[in-house]
Amino acid sequence: MVGIGTTSLRSDGSPLIRVENLVVEFPAAKGGVVQAVSDVSFDVMAGETLGIVGESGCGKSTTAKAVIQLPVPTSGTVSYDDTDLASLDKEQLRKVRTDLQMIFQDPISALNPRRSIWDIISEGVEIWGTHGAWTDARLDELIRSVGIDPQYKDRKPFQFSGGQCQRISIARALALDPKVLICDEPVSALDVSVQAQILNLLDDLKSEHDLTMLFISHDLAVVRNVSDRVLVMYLGRVAEVGDADSIFDNPTHPYTQALLSAVPGSGISDDGSLSGELPSPLNPPSGCRFHTRCSYATEVCTTTVPEFEQFGEDHWVACHHPQGTPVTIT
Ligand SMILES: Nc1ncnc2c1ncn2[C@@H]1O[C@H](COP(=O)(O)OP(=O)(O)OP(=O)(O)O)[C@@H](O)[C@H]1O
Ligand code: SF4
Ligand SMILES: [Mg+2]
Repeated sequence: MVGIGTTSLRSDGSPLIRVENLVVEFPAAKGGVVQAVSDVSFDVMAGETLGIVGESGCGKSTTAKAVIQLPVPTSGTVSYDDTDLASLDKEQLRKVRTDLQMIFQDPISALNPRRSIWDIISEGVEIWGTHGAWTDARLDELIRSVGIDPQYKDRKPFQFSGGQCQRISIARALALDPKVLICDEPVSALDVSVQAQILNLLDDLKSEHDLTMLFISHDLAVVRNVSDRVLVMYLGRVAEVGDADSIFDNPTHPYTQALLSAVPGSGISDDGSLSGELPSPLNPPSGCRFHTRCSYATEVCTTTVPEFEQFGEDHWVACHHPQGTPVTIT
C-alpha cells in the first residue's frame, strides 16, 4: 500500500514493513506545527530495498525514524511482521527495535569517541542480551567481514577514517542480527571513491544476512543502483512510488521529472534540489503541495490533494496532470 487514503495499491504478498497514513508533526515556536510527514503509506517486502528520495527537509529521515517509533508517529500505523508497533509495550518494542537497525550519515559522530571499536560493536550485544550467540571469535569474524582488521579492535574511532567508521557502524548494527537495515544517507559524508566501497559492502552484506533495507539518499544515481523500489517525497508527502526502473525510466510526476532532469545549469543544485523556494512545512501549500513550483499546475492543484493513479504494474503517481498515461491492471 502506498500513498494517500486507504486504497490498497499493492497486493503481492505480506509486507515485512507496512506504513499506513503516517503523520509526524513537531511543535514549533509560537504554537506552530511542523508538518514533517503527512499521510505517507508504503510497503516494504522482505528482502527488498526501498529507496527514499526528495529534497532536503521533505521528511525522509523523519519517515525512517518513525518506522522505529523514534519519534512515535502523531498518527497512522507502522506494522512490522504483521504487528502494529503501537500495540507493543516498552519491552516488546525494545526487542523489535533490535530487528530494525539504523545507520546514519556521519559515521564518526555516531560512534562513542571514548570507547574502543570492540566495545562499540559488542555493546549492543551485551545490552540487548543476545550475547550467548556471539562468541569473541564470531565478533572478530564480523569485524573482518566489514573490512576492518580485528587486530585494530582496541583502537578508538578517531584512529579510523570516515569510511572505516561507517564500516564499524555497520558492524555494530549487524551484531544485533537485524532483519532490516535503515540507511540514512550512509555515504553522503564520504569521499566518492569510498562511497562505492561502502555501497558494495552493503550490497554484499544484504545478501549474506538476508536484509531488507530502507535506503535514504539525495544522490539519485546511488538510489537507482541500490533500490528495488523508490519512494519520491515532496514536502512530507509521497509524489511517486514504484519499481526503480519504472520510476527512473518513466518518471511521471512533474516533481520526479524535475529531480531527474538535474543537469549542470538547469537550476538544480548538486544535491538534487530544485530552484525556487521550498515552501515551509509549518504552512505547506493547499491541495498539491508542489503547486507553487510546478509548471503544469492548474486551479484544481491549489485546492485538491491528488489521489494516486497507477501507471505501471508497480508505479503510482499522485498528480492531477501526470506526464504519462494511466493504466488499469487487473
Ligand atoms: N525534532 C524536530 N523538531 C522540529 N522539526 C523537525 C524535527 N525533525 C525534523 N524536523 C523538521 O521536519 C522536516 C523534515 O525533516 P527531515 O529531517 O525528515 O527531512 P529530510 O528529508 O531527512 O532532510 P535532509 O535531506 O536534509 O536530511 C524539516 O522541516 C525539519 O526541519
Ligand atoms: S497535482 Fe498539479 S501542481 Fe501537483 S504536480 Fe501535478 S500538475 Fe503539478
Ligand atoms: Mg535526513
